[in-house]
Amino acid sequence: MTKEIDNLVKKVISFSQQVYKENPIPLHRPIFEGNEKNFLSECIDTNFVSSVGKRVDEFEEKIASFTGSKYAIATVNGTSALHIALKLLGVKEKTEVITQSLTFVATCNSISYLNAVPIFVDVDRDTMGMSPSALELFLKENATFRKGVLFNKKSDRKISACLPMHTYGYPCRIREIKKICKDWNIPLLEDCAESLGSFVDKKHSGNFGVAGALSFNGNKLITTGGGGMIITNNKKLASAAKHMTTTAKVPHPYNYIHNEIGYNYRLPNINAALGCAQIEKIEFFLSQKRILNNKWKKALEEFNLDFLEALENSTSNNWLNTIVLTSRKDRDKFLNLTNKKGVMTRPTWELMSDLPMYKNCLRDSLSNSRFLRDRVVNLPSSVPNIMLSSTSI
Ligand SMILES: Cc1ncc(COP(=O)(O)O)c(C=O)c1O
Repeated sequence: MTKEIDNLVKKVISFSQQVYKENPIPLHRPIFEGNEKNFLSECIDTNFVSSVGKRVDEFEEKIASFTGSKYAIATVNGTSALHIALKLLGVKEKTEVITQSLTFVATCNSISYLNAVPIFVDVDRDTMGMSPSALELFLKENATFRKGVLFNKKSDRKISACLPMHTYGYPCRIREIKKICKDWNIPLLEDCAESLGSFVDKKHSGNFGVAGALSFNGNKLITTGGGGMIITNNKKLASAAKHMTTTAKVPHPYNYIHNEIGYNYRLPNINAALGCAQIEKIEFFLSQKRILNNKWKKALEEFNLDFLEALENSTSNNWLNTIVLTSRKDRDKFLNLTNKKGVMTRPTWELMSDLPMYKNCLRDSLSNSRFLRDRVVNLPSSVPNIMLSSTSI
């Protein structure tokens, strides 16, 4: 492959330049071609830029309707959505949450904010998300029930939740994970920060466990600048999440009464207004990204690369186009040459289990995670600024 890397680099640069009339070409930038300015001006003109205003409710309703979740609770970012959802699932200090090592650091940080500890199981190579077989093996080898409560025999700590992630918008084997969690009585939270618009058997990601957490950071499919959302079908959890993310204030026309230590995690109206405009365009973004993904595959056909693809029963939002190169050496060369030419390509994350704060956490062999860490790169994936059709380019 090393010989072919130069040709691959050339092809990636020329295709990126055909699709994006930008310099440098970002990995994933937002696109504001709808009602964004109108809705933002309205917030400024009416003074409703902060914690009060109709746009938060409206954005929550729109996300609930799009995802098919009964409830949606807006938060300041995806990390706070994960933090509060885990807390409401019952994650407490000195308990353990099973997650994946191949993920963005926020997944693990949200566990640490509750003074709980992550445990890392491997991912599947084809989904890059948590492997159900690795999860099951880990539980069989390490977990035991004591008076109906699940404990890790090695650490003597309670296992309080499972937190898989849908990597780059491509759903993991969530049905199998759900079944294992049910068998072992483990509450399931989905990290859907990257998977708004991704479905498994026509059911939106985030609807398989107790809750899901979305992100609307500037690099995501739709953005509110910064923002997040807890989605759930559990009424009790939804109202507790609203309460907890809004300083635990007891509703009253003018008194300030707070009945527990809450968090100021509410999404400001001005951010929600941006979200309301962005979600109007979501089907367009999804269809352009689907066409782009097909065009990337066609453009790089001759190199016989492994693309990250949705499994048969799933659809992906194609958030980041992702390929697997043959070695770390090739990957480094590829990253170096493309970035030098102003085409932003990126490696995947360093494994969480190798970061200083998580290096002592329990893990399995993580052989797939390590394999992917050395080889995966993301290609420019923004909605193109020229309109793509299946016959264009
Ligand atoms: C997998 C994953 N989890 C959590 C987050 C956290 O979201 P935010 O940046 O909105 O806090 C992100 C993205 O940023 C992410 O990619």
